[in-house]
Formats: sequence, structure tokens, C-alpha cells
Amino acid sequence: MKVLKNYKELSSTVADIVEYQIQDEPLSRLVLPTGSTPIGLYQELVNRELDWSHVITFNLDVYIMNPNHPQSYQTFMKKNLFNRINIYPSNCNFPDRNVEVYEQKLKGTPIDLCILGIGSNGHIAFNEPGSKFDSRTRVVDLSEQTIEDNSRFFDSVDDVPKQAITMGLGTIMESKKIVLMANGKHKLNILNIAINGEQTESVPASILQSHKNVEIYYCD
Ligand code: GLP
Repeated sequence: MKVLKNYKELSSTVADIVEYQIQDEPLSRLVLPTGSTPIGLYQELVNRELDWSHVITFNLDVYIMNPNHPQSYQTFMKKNLFNRINIYPSNCNFPDRNVEVYEQKLKGTPIDLCILGIGSNGHIAFNEPGSKFDSRTRVVDLSEQTIEDNSRFFDSVDDVPKQAITMGLGTIMESKKIVLMANGKHKLNILNIAINGEQTESVPASILQSHKNVEIYYCD
């Protein structure tokens, strides 16, 4: 794990990795996260005015809710990144109930770079504790902890969707390179458990110990 000075440095360090990837391979296939952590990364990428015209993106997960809702992950991505760069909307993929179709698209050509965040219970994407290490894209129930954590984006905890569609842990692990970003002291304990603890389905992020090309960046 690399500890960075502050949120700005976290955002720019991961932006450097994305920029290098897109310049090295204009036809890059990227997996992208949501949550509060990557907002600075997306701002940084917008500022860099890269050429996204050949890039294909796949989002990690979506809530089961109206995609036009202000708190949907589709809206989040448009607002923070897609509407501000020259990517083709048809190249921006989100999982939907047709999970097999999403899996087929992902399997077509390997993902070059997958950016992840981590939930306070060790979830990656919406793979909650107990998710199988070989899981694929599917509909999931959100844990009480995740509903509580994400209620800060909604008017009340009752407004948080209870279900989501997420790429699976097995799907994520097929990416050629994985970068996990974490921001804030409250993530440090779960990061330590995920990186140094036992590999267990109770801590979904611990699966990353088995990936041969993973980088973890943290700032408090
Ligand atoms: C959500 C997302 C995850 C993300 C997590 C952390 O639950 N599904 O992909 O990693 O939030 O969010 P934050 O960056 O706001 O801490």
C-alpha cells in the first residue's frame, strides 16, 4: 500500500495511471467506480483534456433504481466524468438486469485497468461480505452497513435502494491491472485487514491478495 500526502495527491496519482493507460492504448477498456473517493480523480481527468474517443468504460455497479434519479450511478458518472470528456455515450457501459450480456461484453477482450474503491465493511463494487470469490455480475441485496454508509447521499436512510447490480469478484479479478483507492482514516482498519489478514469471503477486498498486478493508494 502506498500512503499519499493528501486527497489531491491521491487523485492525481491515480489520474497519472489512467492517463498513461489511455495514451499507451487509445482503445483501452476501463472499469470505473463511484462513491465519494473517485470524485477528485474524475475532476483531475477532466482537467487533463485527454482523448477518450476510443475508450470503452464499464461501471462496477449500479443501484436498482431509476437511472435518471439524481443519486443513480449513471447520473453520477455523467455529471462527474462522461458529460465533460469526449467519450461516446455508446461506449459507456453499465450493468443492468441482463447480467449475461454484461458478462459477455466484459469477456470479449480483457479489461486493461480496473479502478476500485472500498466500503467500510470491505466490499468492492457491491460485493458484500460473504460474496463468493468466483462470483460474476449479478443482482445483490445491500448490507445494513452499506445502506447506512450510503444514506449520506440521500434524504433519509429509507430512500437508499436495497438492491444493486454488481460486477462479481471473479469478473473484477480478470482485469489485467487493478488500482484500489481509499481516502480517510476510517478506511485504514479495513484496508489493513484486507491486505494483511486472512483471505476470506467475509472480507471481499482480501481477494486482491491473489491478483498479480494490483496497486493500493491511501491518504488520510
Ligand atoms: C459504494 C460503491 C463502492 C465504493 C464504496 C465506497 O458502496 N458501490 O464501489 O467503493 O461506495 O464509497 P466512498 O468512496 O464514498 O467511501
